[in-house]
Amino acid sequence: MHAVPPLEQDTDGASVAGSPAHAATQNAAHATSATAAHARAPGHAANDAPVRDLRRVGIHPDHWYPLAWSHEVKRGKTHGVTFAGDPIVLARTESGKVFALEDRCAHRQVPLHQGVVDGESIRCGYHGWTYDCSGKCVDVPYLGRDRLPNGVRSYPCQEVEGLIFVFPGKAELAEKRPLPKLGSVADGKYKTRRFGRPVNCHYSFMHENLMDMNHQFLHRKQMGQMRARSLGRRRGEGWVEVDYTFARMAGQQPIGEAIVFGQSRKTSDNNDKDVMTIRTEYPYQTLQIRTTEQTLVMDLWIVYVPLDREQRTNRTFGLLSIRKPGIPGVLNLAWPLLVWFTERIFKEDREIVEAEQRAHDLQGADWNHEVFPVINELRALLREGGAPDLVVGAGTGDTAVIRFWDSRHGNPLANT
Ligand code: FES
Ligand SMILES: [Fe+2]
Repeated sequence: MHAVPPLEQDTDGASVAGSPAHAATQNAAHATSATAAHARAPGHAANDAPVRDLRRVGIHPDHWYPLAWSHEVKRGKTHGVTFAGDPIVLARTESGKVFALEDRCAHRQVPLHQGVVDGESIRCGYHGWTYDCSGKCVDVPYLGRDRLPNGVRSYPCQEVEGLIFVFPGKAELAEKRPLPKLGSVADGKYKTRRFGRPVNCHYSFMHENLMDMNHQFLHRKQMGQMRARSLGRRRGEGWVEVDYTFARMAGQQPIGEAIVFGQSRKTSDNNDKDVMTIRTEYPYQTLQIRTTEQTLVMDLWIVYVPLDREQRTNRTFGLLSIRKPGIPGVLNLAWPLLVWFTERIFKEDREIVEAEQRAHDLQGADWNHEVFPVINELRALLREGGAPDLVVGAGTGDTAVIRFWDSRHGNPLANT
């Protein structure tokens, strides 16, 4: 059985770092001395209120999430994806329109992505039941059209800037919820790199990794010795953001970084005047760098979409926009270097957050000892924004409840 540690340790300083081995001691102390800071009940905050393990908070489905790049969904083809374990089929019709349905045939439940696009519909690959873009069954080859069964669920779907967004939550909320602003991707003054891949961790580790610039040590081989300084943080309804400056302590400016700024700098000159602002606006994240002249030189928009039911894997979709320098073509020439540089950094981040996830699964609970206030605010935001009543991550020892977001309205048998 796993011990359950305190989940938040931000109010009583660094002196009470717990460890799995010390959990029993802490629990015993709680019984005898309720006032001692380190005697907090396991899984409880300072006021003794229960705290949800952030790594088991499901992402909230009532937002727009990209589930594929446009180029992955070819004309006249289906494409199977998942959102937090829910199978969804994307289809691009002969006319080029994209739509999203639950990825199951109402008949025998086989995935519709194994079927074929037929005009503006999907025809199941087994007996040929056919569904239009609203999920309505419009043809069963061996039944009369007056006896058609109910169809399957459809999802609101929009294609913007090379991304296919789906609204996996309550469809009636989709219209009220605008699509996110995608950084500077639509601005001709910027060139944008589209990137991302699956990462085997809960999405919250990704948010924390990007917002916590104190981990420059991890990137020392790529970046040289950089020191981040937090200038301050702000918090509002549904968002938190933080500003940083950076000082180079030693080493040369890497070429990839120079490309971002459109100029090369030597050691520790004025790059500590540039300001990086990182913002989580649930469920998205942005990172912007502005020079002293307030020129936005880098604008990153990114989101981490859970793939599996336990939300231990996410697919990252990132749009990295770099302001074009004065001399046309320079950025195009330098682009492969920028790609190489950002891939190296991304790989280091991916490996370390996957290590965090493995540690969480091994320990069966969240033993993180976070000392940076920004990250504790971020964690609170992700908890508040997360799905209600949804506990994910079963199989790690002490979580028995998984409530699925049921994509099949009512009894599936009633639909057929
Ligand atoms: S399983 Fe799809 S048509 Fe029969
Ligand atoms: Fe990083």
